Amino acid sequence: MTADLRSWAAEIARVELEGLPRRWQHTQGVARQAERASRVVDDPDLLVAAAWLHDVGYAPRLIRTGVHAIDGARFLSELDASDRLCGLVAHHSCACVEARNQGVAIEWPDEHTVVRDALWWADMTTTPTGGVTGVQDRIDEVLNRYGPDHVVARSVDEASEELIAAARRTERLLAELIQV
Ligand SMILES: [Fe+2]
Repeated sequence: MTADLRSWAAEIARVELEGLPRRWQHTQGVARQAERASRVVDDPDLLVAAAWLHDVGYAPRLIRTGVHAIDGARFLSELDASDRLCGLVAHHSCACVEARNQGVAIEWPDEHTVVRDALWWADMTTTPTGGVTGVQDRIDEVLNRYGPDHVVARSVDEASEELIAAARRTERLLAELIQV
């Protein structure tokens, strides 16, 4: 799967998400951002594959717990994806907060690496229709879209400091790359 990891991931994402036009547009945008960040990570294929697959759990046929990050990771595990890929998807953009708030356990650890930060950055700098945005604007957009009482909005609000910190770490690495 390694050599073709990116195309494997892109094809699974297309099959599962094409029927959800906004999720599919967003996913393609996140994959583009991940490509941009791929030069600052040690495993670009893994980062881009995780970007393609991070929201696969929104596919209606894959919904089990209702926490899309967990449903996506469990689906990928059934496809024999690596534990690292499953863990990145399960924890993307601080999904552990929503999982905790929904009482759902996560079987994989959060790897706390540059790849993980870059995935969060790619997701948090991409609009629902695949455009590029700033992290704070993206957080505000989620809060507005779901409304303050929704568990997703409450969870993103709770996670906002961690989301911003991960994005800043990635942006610093990207900035260093430009200066070299
Ligand atoms: Fe996303």
